[in-house]
Amino acid sequence: MRVRIVKDEEAAARVVAARVTTALAAKPATVLGLPTGRTPVRLYALLRQAFAAGRVDFAKAVTFNLDEFAGLPAGHPATYRAFMEAHLFDHVNLAPRRIHFLDGMAKDPVAECVRYEKAIARAGGIDLQILGIGANAHIGFNEPGAGLVADSHLARLEPGTRRSNADLFDGNVKAVPREALSMGVGTILRSRSIVLLATGVGKANAIGATVLGPVTTRVPASLLQLHGDVEVVLDEAAASKLAMAV
Ligand code: PGA
Repeated sequence: MRVRIVKDEEAAARVVAARVTTALAAKPATVLGLPTGRTPVRLYALLRQAFAAGRVDFAKAVTFNLDEFAGLPAGHPATYRAFMEAHLFDHVNLAPRRIHFLDGMAKDPVAECVRYEKAIARAGGIDLQILGIGANAHIGFNEPGAGLVADSHLARLEPGTRRSNADLFDGNVKAVPREALSMGVGTILRSRSIVLLATGVGKANAIGATVLGPVTTRVPASLLQLHGDVEVVLDEAAASKLAMAV
């Protein structure tokens, strides 16, 4: 893994925004894997600005989001699709038919996950997968455990993950769904290039274990060590447990 440490959240978002704009300049039909959460908010703001300034074109881009809550109706403000519309999709020239999401309302989640894997394959695979990381080192909704599921699947959320999503539900943890549909670690590792963005001291332990620790399903992001093209972009706070090693 290549680790890049920059001063603060703004600088980290700039590094990742530049990766996206460079990829799209080189290949307008780039297939992007996209995360939600607090971490990428600044990244999406920079991409909106770049689009408004004519510095990036999404006309041919294809997107696949990492995950979606199960059981929230379309249009519910806490869906990750609503997040993406508010932060990026409603502001740039992405073609709606090239935007892909796992359908959290699917009656048959297994069939829905098979559909998603096929859609990714049909698009030619993900060129650039952007990831956040949970404080427990989850990627997507692949929570730490004795084993991990390789492909897209219906995942159970850990209590801490539900707490960290409570803001989307006016702070009400009980309203956060217990399940979500998520790309699997295999789906993520099949991407050609991966960029993991982490900021803030709350991610420092997860980043330490991800970068320096053994590869283990107890630290899902550590499986990224198995991939040949991963860049970990950190602010100084998220990198604070790496200080001895860099
Ligand atoms: P966050 O979530 O960006 O809101 O911290 C990241 C994640 O859980 O993957």
